[in-house]
Amino acid sequence: MNICNREGGRCAEMAMVCLTDFEEYAKEHLSKATWDYYAAGADECCTRDDNLLAYKRIRLRPRILRDVSVSDTRTTVQGTEISFPVGIAPTAFHCLAWHEGEVATARATEALNTCYITSTYSTCSVEEIVAAAPSGYRWFQLYVYRDRKLSEQIVHRVEALGYKALVLTVDVPYTGKRRNDIRNQFKLPPHLKVKNFDGVFQQETAGPEDYGIPANTLDPSISWKDVYWLQSITRLPIIIKGILTKEDAELAVEHGVQGIIVSNHGGRQLDGGPASIDALSEIVDTVQGRIEVYVDGGIRTGSDVLKALALGAKCVFIGRPAVWGLAYKGEEGVREVLQILNDEFRLSMALSGCRNVAEINRNLIQFAKL
Ligand code: FNR
Repeated sequence: MNICNREGGRCAEMAMVCLTDFEEYAKEHLSKATWDYYAAGADECCTRDDNLLAYKRIRLRPRILRDVSVSDTRTTVQGTEISFPVGIAPTAFHCLAWHEGEVATARATEALNTCYITSTYSTCSVEEIVAAAPSGYRWFQLYVYRDRKLSEQIVHRVEALGYKALVLTVDVPYTGKRRNDIRNQFKLPPHLKVKNFDGVFQQETAGPEDYGIPANTLDPSISWKDVYWLQSITRLPIIIKGILTKEDAELAVEHGVQGIIVSNHGGRQLDGGPASIDALSEIVDTVQGRIEVYVDGGIRTGSDVLKALALGAKCVFIGRPAVWGLAYKGEEGVREVLQILNDEFRLSMALSGCRNVAEINRNLIQFAKL
């Protein structure tokens, strides 16, 4: 029975069956400016949209009669076991979607035993996040600031708090042009703060801003030598997020990092770049297993996860779907999103004859169709 009294909309009582149900709910319930901010892609949104379409172009080669009565979705990332190969990508400003913000995200990922990459631009502090979910497995996403001391301080803080890796995002020398955010003059509302830098970034400072953060804080001059600098101030593994070519993948390996996230920032930076899943193979071929390769962007179903693993990703990360889960029911909503992906992934594995993640390989992909 539908006890929802909204005309044509999605309400909390309706069964949530797939990730797009959460998307619909979030679109319905968030303010227009907030929805536009989460949904935004750069310019004409070609890359954002292609992130999803590229998965739909890939066809699988399922195997049969392989006794799939028992299945195991566990894997490891950087040597730590997680319950299935889907983690949460770093996204900013979770308090815009749900009042508890990142604290709710942290609790959900702890409950599902997977990896949560906390964004630098969190609206809860890293201390609050760790206190809320003390045994959660977390990496911290880092930008490099003009003021290296700022970066250094946050690195030492997250290291002391038990974060297990640093994710250095390298595709934002400048913020991409997101048309609706400009039209809406979007910025973080005054009651919310980038808590990790409370009092450091004076949000009320006059002058140009990006999303309520002073525009000149990020350093567009960052280069490979900053990877060496980062290695000199931390013992944590470093994972580079935002690589899309084999050339940069080779440089990443040569610079001694421990992982790569193949990513185009959900299509929010360079419009016209490849769908991330289309860039994955050349990077996996170049890296040849020397470091772990992950991918994010456009993952919306369990079969998308299966395809990414078949093409060589060790794990995938979801950005917007986690925010939709938050908008739906906070911690419970993020848990539901993760659980649905886990269930769908388990089913796709079984229907293609895979009993565990080690059995997922390139033979599952129909390359003639690509
Ligand atoms: C992001 N992303 C991002 N990446 C990052 O390194 N630091 C950040 O603070 C943010 N913030 C952010 C906000 C929002 C609203 C979105 C949608 C994305 C990019 C994110 O980590 C990831 O690369 C994409 O979201 C993956 O694409 P999907 O899963 O959203 O399609």
